[in-house]
Amino acid sequence: MCGIVGYIGEREASSILLNGLKHLEYRGYDSAGVAVINSELTVKKKAGKVSGLDILLQTDPVIGKVGIGHTRWATHGAPTDLNAHPHTDSDNNIALIHNGIIENYAALKKKLAADGCSFKSETDTEVLVVLIRAFYDEFGNMAKAFRYALKQVVGAYGIAMVSTFDPDRLFVARNGSPLAIGIGDREFIVASDASAIVQHTRQVVYLDDGEMAVIERDRYVTKRIDDDTPVDKEVEEVVFDLAEIEKGGYNHFMLKEIFEQPEAIRNAMRGRLDLEASTVRLGGLMNVIDRLRDAKRLIIIACGTSFHAGLVGEYLIEGLAGIPVEVEYASEFRYRDPIITKEDIVIAISQSGETIDTLAALREARNRGAMTLGIVNVVSSSIARQTDAGVYSHAGPEIGVASTKAFTSQLMVLALMAVKLARMKRMSASEGRTILKALHELPEKVEYTLSRHEQVKEISRAYAEVPNFLYLGRGYNYPVALEGALKLKEISYIHAEGYPAAEMKHGPIALIDKNMPVVFIAPQDAVYDKVISNIEEVRARNGRVIAIANEGNRQIEPLAEHVIYVPETLPFLSPIINVLPLQLLSYYVAVDRGCNVDQPRNLAKSVTVE
Ligand code: AGP
Ligand code: GLU
Repeated sequence: MCGIVGYIGEREASSILLNGLKHLEYRGYDSAGVAVINSELTVKKKAGKVSGLDILLQTDPVIGKVGIGHTRWATHGAPTDLNAHPHTDSDNNIALIHNGIIENYAALKKKLAADGCSFKSETDTEVLVVLIRAFYDEFGNMAKAFRYALKQVVGAYGIAMVSTFDPDRLFVARNGSPLAIGIGDREFIVASDASAIVQHTRQVVYLDDGEMAVIERDRYVTKRIDDDTPVDKEVEEVVFDLAEIEKGGYNHFMLKEIFEQPEAIRNAMRGRLDLEASTVRLGGLMNVIDRLRDAKRLIIIACGTSFHAGLVGEYLIEGLAGIPVEVEYASEFRYRDPIITKEDIVIAISQSGETIDTLAALREARNRGAMTLGIVNVVSSSIARQTDAGVYSHAGPEIGVASTKAFTSQLMVLALMAVKLARMKRMSASEGRTILKALHELPEKVEYTLSRHEQVKEISRAYAEVPNFLYLGRGYNYPVALEGALKLKEISYIHAEGYPAAEMKHGPIALIDKNMPVVFIAPQDAVYDKVISNIEEVRARNGRVIAIANEGNRQIEPLAEHVIYVPETLPFLSPIINVLPLQLLSYYVAVDRGCNVDQPRNLAKSVTVE
């Protein structure tokens, strides 16, 4: 996780770094710091948010035109001033920032300590800067010291470094954690992602794993870390609307992103509905679609909210297209020696495209010969680059840590994929037409559901103080129950669990008493009557029922303390609508509880450590 930014050019570095960090803060906010080179190295760093660093820099500005900045998500060592990045060598000549984990740090540290080196922090990162210094003392060449030190490191990193020994250069490297180099006019801005670069330049080079760059004011060299061979990198033009990463009048990014969902799912559908042939067109899958149609098995890997989208995907693709699907947490998949053959197709779902668990699982699948596909939101992200083919979800930048519009866009892409495959296999053109019509009507239904947010706000007031919540749903809406619970946990810190409604009687029902709110997702679909029975079971034990139901369903009213009505759609599209009140509920409850909605404690938007 963590955000990295670096600058070399003709302008004062500190304000550019600070500004970059504000855009990257979603990646981690345990501490923030900068290091700037003038004739000497000045480091300012502080536990807490970027705003704290901002105040520090206002009262005590730093001068210099080369520098680096970091916003941390702690893995090794508490979020203290001392553990904040940048880390420096013993006499303050080298400063380094790091995103990731140095897995062999303990062994390296032991060896360096035996050689007489001392350490100031508890981080894994500091070992690297000390090691670089040791190599510099040996070689007297900073680029070589940087490269040799990196060759000793096992683990994931995105790194930026500056040094008074070589004051007109910025050094960066990547292995597993993203690093982009923005090419300006006699200046370069490096960052973990383009959001910190785009106000300066749209020309970007993305480092690949195992690569480093040495950057001067007017040139840069990219090369391989292992053998120092130069690599030619393509310069890409980043398409980015700056307004998309501002709050635009909303109190929080999360709320803005919730309300962007009609547009986000429109974008996920744009150009993909083929009305003439009553099917769906997915350009990114064009070359692999026959293989997908004939696949014996699809395996979806993902984490968190993207995993929940994957679960809906399983119901969708099996239900509509009849292709067996397995869904697995990426982190588990990788380490359980999975059975994968060349016949399998592995689909990674990720908003950021940088989640290391998902990326690593993907590589594992590829090494075992499977074809890999991606459903990714961030264009040109690592997962998007490393898959054989894929579909972008086009939700636009998602800044709030709690994923909302990325989820519904993922659901939309999965629905499109399922329809496409179904039409190639067993679905009639007239069924296809019915579905296209429903898809076409969906953004308006999403809009309408969101327009009723005041009702959800009102209801949320009754639940701000409860310690626990249960979410129940069946079929397509079982993953929606999981997602509703995750949203609430993440941003309000209320303990919540999601279950398939029928599982309740196998254990969770023991939790029900007069204090337990139970959210039922109860659209009028094939399992509606069963869900009503589950509601009765909760009522019989005095639980507090909140029901998400279809408009016009009066039967449910006497059974629930609160009913949130949503428009009806085809059952397989209903998760896209039913999750909306759950997102709003978690948002309003969290706001009532005074929680930091966009930056919940302990979390980061993009989880680039295992
Ligand atoms: C969602 O609200 C979470 N913050 C988190 O579970 C997230 O979905 C997960 O880390 C996966 O991220 P990705 O989609 O960027 O891979
Ligand atoms: N492992 C480093 C630390 O704990 C970097 C973590 C990060 O990516 O922010 O400080």
